[in-house]
Amino acid sequence: MSDSQLEHVAARLAGARHVAVLTGAGISAESGIATFRDPDGLWARFRPEELANMDAFLASPGRVQDWYAYRRGVVRDAGPNPAHLALVALEDLVPRVTVITQNVDGLHAQAGSTRVLELHGSLARNYCVDCGREAREEELAAGDGTDAGGGVDAVDDDTGPRFTCIACGGLIRPDVVWFGEMLPRDVLEAAVDTASNCDVLLSVGTSGVVYPAAGIPLEAARAGAFTVEVNVERSAIADALDLVLVGRAGEILPAVLERVRTRS
Ligand code: OAD
Repeated sequence: MSDSQLEHVAARLAGARHVAVLTGAGISAESGIATFRDPDGLWARFRPEELANMDAFLASPGRVQDWYAYRRGVVRDAGPNPAHLALVALEDLVPRVTVITQNVDGLHAQAGSTRVLELHGSLARNYCVDCGREAREEELAAGDGTDAGGGVDAVDDDTGPRFTCIACGGLIRPDVVWFGEMLPRDVLEAAVDTASNCDVLLSVGTSGVVYPAAGIPLEAARAGAFTVEVNVERSAIADALDLVLVGRAGEILPAVLERVRTRS
C-alpha cells in the first residue's frame, strides 16, 4: 500500500455522496474475533457441516448451541477496533455511509455506525424454531462463555439441547444464516440497492468466496462505482475491483480517514 494509493482513495471518498462498505470477518480480527478461513480461523478448528446448518442442529442441538454460546461469549468480551471506528467517523465526512456486513458480532452498531445491513443475521438474537418466539438474553446467559474448543468437544457424548423455549419447549437457535439458508430478503435487497447506487464501495476483510455477499462489490463495480479492497491479502474478487490496499483494516482505514479529513 503506497501513499499515492491512500491519496487516491481519500480523494474519491471526499468527493462521494454515498459510500458503501462491505465488511467480513477480517474487520473484526483485530478485535480478537477469529475469522473463518484464515489458517487459525474457525473453519480450521470446527467443521461447518457439524455446526452451521439445520440438519446438524436437529441432530445435535446441544453441540450447536454450545458453539454459539461460546461465540457470544467471545463477542461479549470484544469491542470495536480502529477499523470499525474509522467507518463511524467517515459518516461526518461524507453525506451517506452504508455498512453492509457479513459479520454477526454487532460491532459496527456497537461502534456507532448508523446504517448497518446485517446480511447474515446477528448472534445477539435467538428464537424458537417451533413457535418463533425470541429468546431473551437472560434465558441464554447461563450457557454463555462456554469454553472454546473444549466447549464443543466436551459435548460430543451429550448433544441434547441446552436451551429450549420457555413458552413451548422448542429448540432455540441463533438468528444467523446457516449453510443452505436464504439471506433475509429485505436486507439483501437493500444491500444490492446500495451497491447499485453508491459512488465508492470499500470491501474490507472478506475473502470474497461466499455469495451472494461476494457479489455486492461486483454489482457496485458494474454500476460504475469506484471499488476498493482492504485486506491483508488479495481476495477472490480482488481482480474485479479498481484498487487493492494490502494491509490491516485497523491501520489502513484510520489512515485513509485522516486523509479524507484533511481534504474536507
Ligand atoms: P473469511 O474468514 O472467509 O475471510 C476473512 C478475510 O479477512 C480474509 O480474506 C483475510 O485475508 C482477511 N483479513 C484477516 N485479518 C484481516 C485484517 N486485520 N485486516 C483486513 N483483512 C483481514 O471471512 P468472510 O469473508 O467474512 O458465513 O466469510 C464470509 C462468510 O463465510 C461468513 O459470513 C460466514 C462464513 O461461512 C456464514 O456464516 C453464513
